[in-house]
Amino acid sequence: MNEVVRAAALLRAGELVAFPTETVYGLGADASNPGAIARIFAAKGRPADHPLIVHLPDAGQLECWAVDIPEAAHGLAAAFWPGPLTLILRRHPSVSDAITGGQDTVGLRVPNHPLALQLLREFGGGVAAPSANRFGRVSPTTAAHVRDELGAAVSMILDGGPCAVGIESTILDLSGDRARILRPGMLDVAAIAAVLGYPPALGAERSSPRVSGALETHYAPATELQLVAAGELAQALRVGLAAGRRIAVLTDPQLLQAYEGIACHPASPDPVRFAHDLYAALRELDALGGDLILVAAPPEEEAWRAVNDRLRRAAAGSK
Ligand code: TXA
Ligand code: MG
Repeated sequence: MNEVVRAAALLRAGELVAFPTETVYGLGADASNPGAIARIFAAKGRPADHPLIVHLPDAGQLECWAVDIPEAAHGLAAAFWPGPLTLILRRHPSVSDAITGGQDTVGLRVPNHPLALQLLREFGGGVAAPSANRFGRVSPTTAAHVRDELGAAVSMILDGGPCAVGIESTILDLSGDRARILRPGMLDVAAIAAVLGYPPALGAERSSPRVSGALETHYAPATELQLVAAGELAQALRVGLAAGRRIAVLTDPQLLQAYEGIACHPASPDPVRFAHDLYAALRELDALGGDLILVAAPPEEEAWRAVNDRLRRAAAGSK
């Protein structure tokens, strides 16, 4: 039996299947089976009130999962699906509380990865899938990352190679009067604004604490991580080394020439490449088992917004 056919059969049987998307690997379960959804929360160690994104084979299934769908949703789906955009819409009454965390909205997306799309088409319905990592930890961007972290809890891992984008989808809330980005991703905000006809609001509202991406303790390696301005990297290193700490650094190697023997993971000056490499780099630096990971902060520019968001959370979560 072909592995996608086998994976779809496992989903139908209520089992967990990890699969690649263009952003990060997902931990998939049949979105219409509350027992299967419960397995996701158990495997991740995730609090039950955190809602899950439902992955669809195409935008034609939107009406099965959402109601009061605004015209903008259709426009955005046409422009960006399959792709790294999650739309928050008012939920269809048939969507279970296990998916929505009891909220009246649901997150939906069509991922852009050939294996994911094959799986979704073969399965035929919605697949709930958070990132396939333990709660609060760095998202996986290879099948090996999933195996290392969740191996035994998953019935099958589809290996689609390293994820092209590398960080999670942009989450856009269309359930209110004005579109709002709840989690920045690598999709250009200006491109979203062009389809909407106005710029979306940025940032989660205080009244929506359930976007787990909005919790400070997310995307964190186990090792303490400090984000420092590029110009202050040398000073931070001196202070750490003087205190006898074992330090690994994520930076442009040019900035570290004076420090022989420091574990340095090269960081790209290009935000797209940086995002692509980020989680694998954090896992490698974490695996060194040192005392501190220093990261040279990228510029505060629009193109770096999503990367800076993940780095800030990683720094906040590691303290
Ligand atoms: O790129 C991605 O989106 C990946 C891949 C696997 O698709 N998935 C992902 O899922 O990042 P997860 O569960 O790790 O993060 C989903 C985020 C969470 O912060 C969750 O709170 C938020 O989406 N979310 C889901 N449904 C929501 C809703 N109805 N309202 C507000 N936030 C929601
Ligand atoms: Mg996640």
